Amino acid sequence: MLNEKVTENATLPAPMIVESESRPRSEPRKKIHLASPIIDAEMKEAALSALENEMMVMGESVFKFEEEFAQYCGTKYAVSTASGTAALSVTFQALNIGRGSEVITTPFSFIATANSIVHSGADPIFADVEDPGVNLSPSKTRAKIGSKTRALMPVHLYGQPARIDEFHDIAVESGLSLIEDACQAHGAEFKGRKVGSIGDAGCFSFYPAKNMTVGGDGGMITTNNEELADAARSIRDCGRDKNSKYYHGRIGFTSRLNTVNAAIGRVQLRRLEAWNQARIRIAEQYRKELENVQDIILPPLERSIEKAVYHLFVIRTKSRDQVKKRLADKGIEAGIHYPRPIHLQAPYRQAYGYTEGAFPLSESLSNEVLSLPIFPTLTEDEVDRVCEALKQSLAP
Ligand SMILES: Cc1ncc(COP(=O)(O)O)c(C=O)c1O
Repeated sequence: MLNEKVTENATLPAPMIVESESRPRSEPRKKIHLASPIIDAEMKEAALSALENEMMVMGESVFKFEEEFAQYCGTKYAVSTASGTAALSVTFQALNIGRGSEVITTPFSFIATANSIVHSGADPIFADVEDPGVNLSPSKTRAKIGSKTRALMPVHLYGQPARIDEFHDIAVESGLSLIEDACQAHGAEFKGRKVGSIGDAGCFSFYPAKNMTVGGDGGMITTNNEELADAARSIRDCGRDKNSKYYHGRIGFTSRLNTVNAAIGRVQLRRLEAWNQARIRIAEQYRKELENVQDIILPPLERSIEKAVYHLFVIRTKSRDQVKKRLADKGIEAGIHYPRPIHLQAPYRQAYGYTEGAFPLSESLSNEVLSLPIFPTLTEDEVDRVCEALKQSLAP
């Protein structure tokens, strides 16, 4: 089966060009997409200016974007990379986590979460999600800690913060690194702190469907650890020593963020808070309109110490496949994040011998989750239309 990201990628519409940050009350779109990246005039101008005036690789915009992203997250450092996957793998290498090491993470995520561990040479060890919820369970994680464990990596899935304070305590108690996979959670908060600023490192993706993009692939590592930041800067840039072009202290990658993408990212970052607020309002409208609908489970409400940023609004229903198809017939694109948990994906079955039943909660989520359209320019009328269509699609 194609993984959901490929499907999404293929159907991701051309970016919307908008001049205003508010939710328009314009003519309803015929087709309602699941996501709709925004590229406005200022972003286009920034891209062109970067192309004309800066070095294409490691230009000034890259360093400014890193500085601004670190400031936004409340960390001392941010190091940009070519993708979220690269941000994660570079982080493991910077922490010297490789062959012979294990990293505990969730099987219910996009496959890149675990791939990044494998890329670094370490082995992913899975623990199931909490119940109820979609994020890694701290107690199940604790039970998996062994002599080879070097790090814990919860994912803030769908923009919902994981129980990062509990993971922090476990990591400190057990002498492990804590890496936050924040690839879906730009701007989410836990006890007033931005996700990505609590663990040893946070990793973000700027893939176009995310809460903010760079107009293509891109990633960012956030950290307060200077040594980690220096190592990451070197590893993403061919293992170069600081300030010496052809002396390499490490085996690195060509995994830098291009200047033109950084220039777009800087403008996107300035829009992020308003966009997240729009997502939160859309999530509230969905909750209100769907709260009494039978046969669906709404996403768990975040606790008062958490701020979710609704990268995705994901309901659960036993008749998921029927509903998805009926919505598509009505011109509404819904998504499945993710139809197969990572441990049951072919390479993980083959390498680690996983079979069905290993992580039952993740497996039932995979059978029931359905992502409804959510993006900042989705109008109230369009949310009404999705809710109405969803109610009709649930009929036997
Ligand atoms: C949870 C999670 N981790 C990692 C990644 C990898 O990011 P990228 O696609 O930028 O490599 C993604 C991206 O979809 C993701 O959603």
